[in-house]
Amino acid sequence: MTTKALWYGGDWNPEQWPAEVWHDDIALMREAGVNLVTVGVFAWSRLEPAPGRHTFDWLDRVLDLLHGGGIRAALATPTASPPPWFTHAHPDAMPVTADDTRLHHGSRDTYCAAAPAYRAAARSIAETLATRYAHHPALALWHVHNEYGTTCHCPHTEAAFRRWLAERHGDLDALNDAWTTSFWGQHYADWAQVGAPRATQYLANPGQLLDFRRFWSDTLLSAYTEQRDVLRAANPAVPVTTNFVLGEWVPVDHARWAREVDLVAVDHYPDRVDAGAEEQSALAADLARGWARHGAGRPAPWLLMESAPNQIHTAGRMHTKEPGRMTRHSLAHVARGSAGVMFFQWRAPAGGAERFHSAVVSHAGADTRVFREATGLGAALARLGGIEAGRVQARVAIAYDAASGWALRHPGMPRDGLDHPGEVAAAHRALWHAGITTDLVTPGDPLDGHRLLVLPALYLASDATADWVRRHVHTGGHLLVTWLSGVADEHARIRLGGYPGAYRDLLGVRVEEFHPLADDERVLLTSGGFGRIWSETVHLAGAEQVTAYIGGVLDGRPAVTRRRIGDARAWYVSTRPDDATYRRLLTDAARLAGVVPACPAAPPGVEAVRRRDGDRSWLFLLNHTDRPQRVPAAGHELLTGDPVDDRVTVPPGGVAVLCEPPR
Ligand code: GLA
Repeated sequence: MTTKALWYGGDWNPEQWPAEVWHDDIALMREAGVNLVTVGVFAWSRLEPAPGRHTFDWLDRVLDLLHGGGIRAALATPTASPPPWFTHAHPDAMPVTADDTRLHHGSRDTYCAAAPAYRAAARSIAETLATRYAHHPALALWHVHNEYGTTCHCPHTEAAFRRWLAERHGDLDALNDAWTTSFWGQHYADWAQVGAPRATQYLANPGQLLDFRRFWSDTLLSAYTEQRDVLRAANPAVPVTTNFVLGEWVPVDHARWAREVDLVAVDHYPDRVDAGAEEQSALAADLARGWARHGAGRPAPWLLMESAPNQIHTAGRMHTKEPGRMTRHSLAHVARGSAGVMFFQWRAPAGGAERFHSAVVSHAGADTRVFREATGLGAALARLGGIEAGRVQARVAIAYDAASGWALRHPGMPRDGLDHPGEVAAAHRALWHAGITTDLVTPGDPLDGHRLLVLPALYLASDATADWVRRHVHTGGHLLVTWLSGVADEHARIRLGGYPGAYRDLLGVRVEEFHPLADDERVLLTSGGFGRIWSETVHLAGAEQVTAYIGGVLDGRPAVTRRRIGDARAWYVSTRPDDATYRRLLTDAARLAGVVPACPAAPPGVEAVRRRDGDRSWLFLLNHTDRPQRVPAAGHELLTGDPVDDRVTVPPGGVAVLCEPPR
């Protein structure tokens, strides 16, 4: 989707309201500067009240009204919420949990994505929508489904799993080998014996669990691509996407999916209420940008498809965003490459399960702080037109790999709670606090321009991944590898000869033993600070010691090492340093690699990100503190319209965006 302006809007559910409200909504959207709304996400039962009987009059009127109001539509296929008639007609298409409980209608997302009846019904409603609306002038984007993220273990799923396995492994011998079924006598003699992982007596087979996760991601992806193909065929000019949901529970490998969408779209809801929410926003945006880049094979736009205009869901309660925080969170995503800002949701429903979810137009109406802030944000985004051309400038890459995250979650690891996404977040947070912008990359992505590559607990390494890392270092790139990286191959089988198998020689270390730490255990480091979660017996085999452990069985032994390879350095970090120590370590590694912060003189608490297009550049300054901050910078401040000679004052909790003088 090419834009000349940033997108602004959110999910709109006219099917929940009488038509008078639609007119009010369009007027309010225009007042707020909205130019894109997602419609129809959960409207299947209102579009097809009985099998094959369609009621499109209301959606016709809605799309015409939007068009008349100059607002574009991201038209959704409603397949995330099958109507009650579907459940009754196809009980076999209802999902089954790993312990054999069949789920029933009553919420949303209750279907098995491998059930032929579900797939046929989903295809059919997508085809009908495509035929009717593919050339509607309001249509800007197809929004397939909503947040693919369910799982199932029913017989349809098992049959599909066997087909997927046969394609991946070729024959049963290869499957037995990949899953190491010689252990505990699990050898399969016939494909019919192979099933989905179910509730079982003790530890389940890690190879089976990992393949099931991969299979299920591919199954959901095929449910998406078959709808996408129908929509594309009806009008190839209209881009197609689906909204990615972030979270450790999500059974989807977004990097694989990114290749199949025309625009990466993500939903982001921080679950922290403190300053952690800002770190989470930056990470989510960098992940989205990384997937967009991975999908397109070059830097590419992405879109924040959903975010909360007000309350943030946290464990057990909703936290009301402080004034200004919504605007700051929104612009933080734009700073990191989003082609706009979209909210869930436009108008708060009077009933239904999410009746208290925040909305731009709340239960109190539009004479509210939130609506006024949303209108201000609309005006701010309008002033940033042209910025979409700017590419975010990052010279550090952090590798993220969904399968490594899944594999570390498997039972039988040396410690519970091992968390690749959490380790990615820790490295990202350390660099974020140091003011260094990072790209998130998928193993195998091109690394031109990235001076430092960080592998945080990147557990799985295929030979191709190991080659990718080696190539980076042998072409002058710096590398920092943390504990548990490269320990296993792509089937989660251990690489023998000492850890970290795939990177041992490159790093010049050999790890003999793991010493996992208890939750409350700390191990002191000679650099100052301490390590948590993990420690190891590291032998130097070409690397030099940078930091040693103090005390305990590892006293005096290497904790952090470094090996010189040409002009580059390859670091190994065998524990998880506390945040301040990790920040110092990563800042040192970045400095040696020639990487500096986007705005080295920015005061603490001010996030700085630069987007550049040739000679033109834009510097975003986000003030996360409650005091005004003076920041050395020059150019033209786009939000106030003021010229800036050498310093700009960013208001408490506010944002400045400078269009900088040409270099
Ligand atoms: C997701 C969904 C929305 C809504 C929000 C609530 O992002 O897509 O339908 O449920 O969460 O936060």
